[in-house]
Amino acid sequence: MRVAVISAEAVPYSKTGGLGDVAGALPKALKAVGVDALLVTPCYWQTKGELLWHLAVDDLWVDWKGGAYHAKAFYSEANGSPTFLIDAPSLFHRDSIYGYREDHERFAFFNRAALVLLKRIGSPPDIVHLNDWHCGFAAVELGERRRRDPYWAGTRTVFSIHNMAYQGVFGMDELPGLGFASQGSQHAFAHNGAASAMKAGLATSDVLSTVSPTYAREIQGPDEGYGLDWLLRERSGRLVGITNGVDYDEWNPETDREIVANYSAEDFSGKAECKRDLLERFGLSADPDRPLIGSVTRLTAQKGIELIMGAAGDLLASGATIISLGSGDKEYEAFWQRLRDHAPDRVGIYTGYSESLAHKIEAGADMFLMPSKFEPCGLNQMYSLRYGTVPIVRAVGGLEDTVQEFDPVSGTGNGFKFGPFRADKLSEKVYEAIFAFADKDRWSKIMRNGMTADNSWENAARKYVDLYHSTLAL
Ligand code: ADP
Ligand code: GLC
Repeated sequence: MRVAVISAEAVPYSKTGGLGDVAGALPKALKAVGVDALLVTPCYWQTKGELLWHLAVDDLWVDWKGGAYHAKAFYSEANGSPTFLIDAPSLFHRDSIYGYREDHERFAFFNRAALVLLKRIGSPPDIVHLNDWHCGFAAVELGERRRRDPYWAGTRTVFSIHNMAYQGVFGMDELPGLGFASQGSQHAFAHNGAASAMKAGLATSDVLSTVSPTYAREIQGPDEGYGLDWLLRERSGRLVGITNGVDYDEWNPETDREIVANYSAEDFSGKAECKRDLLERFGLSADPDRPLIGSVTRLTAQKGIELIMGAAGDLLASGATIISLGSGDKEYEAFWQRLRDHAPDRVGIYTGYSESLAHKIEAGADMFLMPSKFEPCGLNQMYSLRYGTVPIVRAVGGLEDTVQEFDPVSGTGNGFKFGPFRADKLSEKVYEAIFAFADKDRWSKIMRNGMTADNSWENAARKYVDLYHSTLAL
């Protein structure tokens, strides 16, 4: 089976969040279970030149805004699968990957270029696997092309939702200029008087998936459906939830080169060294018995930062040390800064993005905080589990599916979970976790339960293969 994964970001070429991790790892995992998988993603200014193996296509002409745009495509296998990187400097060589008024144009172009490229390089894919709103354009285009172009006649589309909160909304009047003039395509995009690339993807793809079973249910309701829950309910027979995997080549305390000492579920003595190193880096006193709570996240409302704000007094009163790595909304960045200024001996912050520090926090912290308002899947809690860093999470989306509440009687479970979106509920769980931390045997048990959980990509890849087969059988 031939599968082309298309994504706006993919590790190691580009990353702003979990989508990058997933899109980089999925094609590699598919290859490992015998699928002929490739990846198509943009070549950004942020993409490191050394990752580009060679120029694969020098003259990729793409119909664009009534003319022809000359793009190129580089080739690489740096993520472990064949990858084509679409090079269109005027669109992708920018200070940041997203955040421009014309993002919808940039990704509409990327989608069209990806389809031109696929047709150019070989036999048609059986499945084009699209990801998030950035790929809604290709869903519509493929739906139309396969009726007229025999090359695409047998190709089917799978559209994966990573986050319903971002929908790629723009004016309906822009559609004809982007090449979507037909009534059918306009209908596909139309949503509340505007054009929504997410809606187009959801409406026209053959099959839909999202990144955890719980989120698959949640988005069919008004709270998490962001105005499109009706469509997801309508298409619920075509919607499945497949929990993301973890790339254990990248996130594994036994082999991680970013941390000062490696360790495993059999012997986690190295973790104490990682904790000492992490505390030293932040100029905090290295007391092994004082619990260290870590956080690594985009600082947005999605991640429940307002609960951390509400619980901050309790968190400090608990005696724990807290280290936060993140950037995003200024209000949240200012909160962390204030908390650090208030208790500089107990709070460490790094405002920004650092892959290396993310690994050091996963390894060095005792507990990991993830009180998300909603969480389609979440990767950090799964990284935490593998690193023996016990997650404290809100029971939503993928957090609900991957973290099991610790039960002191049976000794089962790998973390701490609360339900209501309330700061006092978060405080309660933190206190419970700190109480458990004081009992070393009990804590070792919780850590080991997490470290031995299998969240490998192999499981997820096999589920995708089943989904692809059932899509082709439709
Ligand atoms: P989301 O995609 O919603 O941001 P995920 O948990 O799926 O959430 O994935 C987030 C990814 O981004 C993880 O790999 C995490 O380590 C990384 N990340 C988030 N913020 C930062 C940061 N400030 N520095 C380094 N890595 C970060
Ligand atoms: C999104 C979600 C996150 C998920 C990631 C990868 O960014 O917010 O929960 O893990 O995509 O699927």
